[in-house]
Formats: sequence, structure tokens, C-alpha cells
Amino acid sequence: MSSLPFFEWLTTSPWANFMNGPEWAFPIIESFHFVGLALSIGTIAIIDLRLLGLGMRRQTASELAADLDPWTRSGLAMMLITGLLMFSADAVNYHYNPAFQFKMTCLLLALLFHFTFHHKVIRSEVSPVAARFAGGLSLALWTAVVGGGRMIAFV
Ligand code: HEM
Repeated sequence: MSSLPFFEWLTTSPWANFMNGPEWAFPIIESFHFVGLALSIGTIAIIDLRLLGLGMRRQTASELAADLDPWTRSGLAMMLITGLLMFSADAVNYHYNPAFQFKMTCLLLALLFHFTFHHKVIRSEVSPVAARFAGGLSLALWTAVVGGGRMIAFV
């Protein structure tokens, strides 16, 4: 079943009309997309650098995660809300955009990895190799999400 009718409906929705209405709407929402990026990817990166043994050695990854988790989750929630608002503004074209498709695929993999293997590695005794693997793959996946997002406007 094609999702096109849903995307066509989305572009006529009240929030799409808001995003395509006042000139300030899209840039303001995109600015919050960046704030959410800093909160989510910024805090995840701190933990990944700790897992890679590249800093913050006075605390364990588990202690860092306990302090940073609320910020990570608030950032991810902000990304989802602002992202869906921006997507609604031109849903049909975005869903055909290869950079957007690449980004959404990487985002799904990054979220799956974050809430499964990465979560387990932080909260249990694992080998330094497993810790470095988790930190490295997590950083690579989130970097791909950011790169895909940046490329949307250029494809
Ligand atoms: C943690 C998850 C996410 C990250 C790290 C992320 C990152 C980014 C980045 C770096 C940009 C480029 C902004 C620019 O330079 O102009 C962007 C744009 C965009 N993002 Fe996200 N994003 C995330 C989640 C989402 C979600 C869930 C959606 C929608 C379902 C979404 C929809 C968009 C759209 C439509 C744009 C393009 C805006 C334009 O046309 O300039 N994003 N994102």
C-alpha cells in the first residue's frame, strides 16, 4: 500500500499550513531541531568518547549515562517533534529525497542500537573491546544521521 496519499494529506494538515505560513515558522522550528541535536547527539557523544577511553575518566560510562539520560531523551523528543513538523511542510518531496531516506534509515538503526546493545554495554561489565565497539559504532551511526540531515537541502 502506498504511503503517498498519507503524505499528500500531511501537506494540507494544520501544522503544515503553520510551517508554510509565517516566514519565521520554519527557521524557528529548524533552530529547535539544532537545539535538540546538541542535547541528544551531544550527550550521546560524551558517553561514546568515554566508552572509547577518550576522556571523562573520573566517572564510569554508567555514572555519566545516569546524569545525562534525561537530556538525551529530551533532545530526542525535540528532534522527533521538530523533525515531523518540518517534514509535514513538504512531505511528498522529502519522502522522495534520497538524503532524507538515508537519514531515516540511519536514524532507525541508531535508535535501535542505542536502546539495545549500547544501553546494555553501559550498564553491565563488558570487555574494553565491546565498550570501544559500542562507542565507535554509535558515533558512526549518529554522524551518518547528521550528515544525511545536512544533505537533505542539497539533493
Ligand atoms: C536525532 C535525530 C535527528 C538528527 C540528528 C537530525 C539532524 C538533522 C540535521 C543536521 C539537519 C540539517 C539542518 C540544516 O543544516 O539545514 C536536519 C534537517 C531535517 N530534518 Fe532532521 N534530524 C533528526 C531527526 C529528524 C526526524 C525524526 C525527522 C522527521 C521525521 C527529521 C526531519 C528533517 C527535515 C525535514 C530536515 C530538512 C530541513 C530542510 O529542508 O532544510 N529529522 N536534521
